[in-house]
Order: sequence, then C-alpha cells, then structure tokens
Amino acid sequence: MVRAETDFAVVIPQRRLRAIARRLSVWYAQNARDLPWRRTRDPYAIWVSEIMLQQTQVDTVQPYYLRWMKAFPDVTTLALAPIDEVLQLWEGLGYYSRARNLQRAAQVVVQKHDGILPASIEGLRALPGIGPYTAAAIASIAFGADAAVVDGNVKRVLARLFLYEGDVKSTGGVQELQALADRLVPQGRAGDHNQAVMDLGATLCTPRRPRCEACPVRTSCLAYRTRAQESLPRSTRRKPVATRKALIGVVADSERVLIEKRQTRLLGGLWAFPFIEYVGEANPARIVELRDLLEARCGPVLRQPPDLLGEFSHTYTHFKISAQAWLFVPGQTGEIPVGGAVWVNPAQLAAVPMSRLDRRIANMLSRLHPEQPNTNP
Ligand code: ADE
Repeated sequence: MVRAETDFAVVIPQRRLRAIARRLSVWYAQNARDLPWRRTRDPYAIWVSEIMLQQTQVDTVQPYYLRWMKAFPDVTTLALAPIDEVLQLWEGLGYYSRARNLQRAAQVVVQKHDGILPASIEGLRALPGIGPYTAAAIASIAFGADAAVVDGNVKRVLARLFLYEGDVKSTGGVQELQALADRLVPQGRAGDHNQAVMDLGATLCTPRRPRCEACPVRTSCLAYRTRAQESLPRSTRRKPVATRKALIGVVADSERVLIEKRQTRLLGGLWAFPFIEYVGEANPARIVELRDLLEARCGPVLRQPPDLLGEFSHTYTHFKISAQAWLFVPGQTGEIPVGGAVWVNPAQLAAVPMSRLDRRIANMLSRLHPEQPNTNP
C-alpha cells in the first residue's frame, strides 16, 4: 500500500512525542559525548564540525577538527589561506569537495556577510557545501532554530522507536522520517535534542546489538516491545561497487619526482602521480600508453622497462579503484614539464596534499630514498 507523504508521522499522538523528547533531554544532560565542537558556541566552529561530520565518523573527525581550528581559527583566516594548505589539513578525510566548498563559503561570508555566518536555514543553504541536513544542524546547534536533523543515526532511532517498516533510504521514507523528526523536536531546544538523538544512535541504538537495556526511551520503543530492533531500519540493498582500473606512472629518481594537480571533480586540487584508466587487462600496450603520457608531460624517460612499485586499491562510496604503480626513470634532459605537471624534490611530497592512494605510493617511494623522509600519514 502506498501511503500519503506524512501519514505515518501524523497518527502518533503529540503527548507521546513530548514524553520521548523529555526523556531524551534528561539522558543527554547526563550522557552527552564530550566532543570538541560541543565546548564552543562559535558558529564558525560548529559549521566546520558539521561539514567534517558529513559521511564521516566522530572519532575520525576529532583530530582533523582540532588541527583545522588551530590553523584556521576564524572565517577570515580560512578565506585567505592557500588552497594547498586547506587541502592538506583535509588529507585523509575524503570527499575533498567539502574542503574546497568550505573555503569558498568562507570567502562568501567574508565578502558578502561581513564575516558573520548567516543564522537562517535559507541563508546557510545559499553557501557552497551546505545542504538541507547541514543547514538544519548548524541553524539548530549554533543559532537555536527549531529545525530537525535527519541523518543515518537519526533514521535508525526513529524507525525503531515508531516501528517504521518502509525503506528509510527511499524518497518517501526520508519524507516520513523527516516529518516525524519535525514533530519530535521540542521548541527552543532543537540543538541539544538533535545531538541527543545522534548520540543515542551512535552509542546505544547501534545498527547491530543495540543496548536497549540502557536506553532512556525503550519503554516507548515499538521495536523493543516487539523485539524487532535488529531487523530495523529496512533499506534496499546497495549495489556492489564497480571497479575502475588505473595505471599510475611515477617518474622519479633520488632528486626529482613528477606530480600534477588534478583538475577533475573527484579529488580536484589534490596533487597526483599521472595516471591512465583502462578497461580489460593491464598488458604491455597499456604500459606504453602510460609512458607516452608521461613523455608528453616531461620529455623522454629512460628506455628501460619500468619497475612495478606495487598494486594499490582504494574504495570510494560508489566505486573502487584498483591500480598498478610503475616507476620510470627520468631522462637526462632538463625539460620543463607541461600540462600542469611539475618536478618536486621527493622530500617535498610530504608537504603537498594528495589522495590516500597517491600518499601510499609516495610513502613507498620515500622508502626507496630513505635519506629523504616523507612522513605524512
Ligand atoms: N554528526 C553530525 N553532527 C554531529 C554532532 N553535532 N555531534 C555528533 N555527531 C554528529
């Protein structure tokens, strides 16, 4: 049966919702996780934390957040920072467009809003990198707006509390749960309430083996009462991720190594070893294709077979990249690279922002030339 958009939410009595919100509030007062962005009321700091927390776990974010706030303590410092520095502080967090958008948004805030972050949902949403979820989080936590946040943790908590059996990832499911979340938010206390639901989802109402015995709202939880907690929320299975294959060319000796700045959407702005993507097998013709690309960038490489540095893979949300990295020896010509490529000293690799996969190759290279340490993570 197809339900109208908010049928599910409207049949739940307000009295019951108020009781749940009250118990959550008492629990949060005693059990809130002590997180660095909760020790401040600075909207800029809260904004930074919410961008970092998009698709990323709290434990991963904390050290990045602390380093970032030290380097860019306010919106003006961020707006004026060199992009390489911005990306390097983000290195390893993934989804690098978040860092680029954060800086672009900081520039807009400085130029158009006198350096003050807009307080309204609409004002926030007009900034690069801020969608409906993040706007609601910032508006409620930093400015006290009555806005409900619905992320993966919140969906799980709500689906269990109210025995929502629809697909929580479908458009209809998201609308139903947003409508429920909107009704559950207590007026004037949305920031703490949102974070209480997030914390409940992260610490007790976990995907597997939820700790219902410690849950402050278990007596109201329909999943708990019907022992359905572990089978909710329901969502359609994810498709298996596709694999993309690449050959990566590392032109290097002990004095120089060739890198180029990526201009693509994925990982744009990061420095990389030149590469080609291919389908099928990694046969010798592809290595020649890779060598041709490298020679087009930096002039002839020595005519000897390249060494296989290693095989590397990395899984992104929607695909996996599987790559072979080949080491080429630069020719003796003093040619200046073209196409955005540059020679750097191998030791300088530590100071440029790179993807995780390229960083692993750089670290391997530094082991070949141990006198020039390259110690980035
Ligand atoms: N995830 C997103 N925002 C969060 C916050 N403020 N606290 C904990 N987890 C979060």
